Amino acid sequence: MKRIGVLTGGGDAPGLNAVIRAVVKTAINSYGSEVFGYRDGFDGFLDVAGRVSLNYETVRGILPRGGTILGTANRGNPFAREVERNGEIVIEDVSDEIAAAIRREALDALIVIGGDGTLRIGLELFEKGVPVIGVPKTIDNDVGGTEVTFGFDTALNTATEAIDKLHTTAESHHRIMVLELMGRDAGFIALHSGVAGGADVILIPEIPFRYDAILQKVNKRVESGRHFSIIAVSEGAKAIDGEQVIARAGNAVYVPRLGGIAQLVGQYLEEYSGQETRVTVLGHIQRGGSPTPFDRWLATRYGAAAARLAAKGGFGRMVALRNGVVTDISLADALAVPKRVDVHGDAVRTARDVGVSFGDTL
Ligand code: F6P
Repeated sequence: MKRIGVLTGGGDAPGLNAVIRAVVKTAINSYGSEVFGYRDGFDGFLDVAGRVSLNYETVRGILPRGGTILGTANRGNPFAREVERNGEIVIEDVSDEIAAAIRREALDALIVIGGDGTLRIGLELFEKGVPVIGVPKTIDNDVGGTEVTFGFDTALNTATEAIDKLHTTAESHHRIMVLELMGRDAGFIALHSGVAGGADVILIPEIPFRYDAILQKVNKRVESGRHFSIIAVSEGAKAIDGEQVIARAGNAVYVPRLGGIAQLVGQYLEEYSGQETRVTVLGHIQRGGSPTPFDRWLATRYGAAAARLAAKGGFGRMVALRNGVVTDISLADALAVPKRVDVHGDAVRTARDVGVSFGDTL
């Protein structure tokens, strides 16, 4: 294994740099390889300036740093790329061009660190002959085949801290506080931080809600003398008879941008409960900052395991955490079913047991 490439794609997540560092150190220490990073995801193959040499010097000090030293792109899909043709922007499949550019780099392995979108591109490039190894990343924790993705724990810490802070001000002002959290179509961030922060209502995409059920919950709290409520809302949550709230429509290049559901919930509650209500959208703060020790630990294990998997020739596979052990699984199997909150699982059950309302029953 002489030459290894590494890239980061899709939305950033705390821990990306820790993976890069572990790949570089393992590849150099254990296999004497040369490692190259490619800037801004697959775009890095389209430009000579896209390649950077990675070594002990370049990865020094990056373990606790958020973001990615390589940059990333969430519109760099080689299979649907915006390109200029005769002065016009059109969407084209340039995957053969990218696969050829990767081949020219003469890499023995390409380690692709990304969420489901980037890993799917990795799988399709593998099917075109690129020696891809995947590393699952995302704050949303929605990649199949692994118990957890790095980035999730850091986002959870940030979200829980936000709920804690909202609690004190909600209680002081006797208000309802609605907090919108990320997660796309998976409710893990809202569910876990909601339970950890003691939210009264948690709304997640996997459990469609009724507005009147949320109202009933906050009214009951008032009747029992608790004149404030905390509502944790996943950006992908939707009413039983409604749709997800889309801030910007998607197309072949962009996935739809979710956002706005907390505002609707807040407006409804203020109008019908008569309680003062405020809405907070935590947004990209959840993606930023230094990774938690758990994420640094997981990211380092994933990075080292990815380099070992590359040395074994385990292409078309992804490192994964299963039963607490880092192992690997085929990308096709990992991506076959996206991970979602198990609505009958112990996490949801626990939340219900401690009195959380998911807004699904009166
Ligand atoms: O997938 C990670 C994520 O942060 C989602 O939770 C969120 O919906 C999305 O990315 C936001 O993407 P962008 O940074 O492109 O607005």
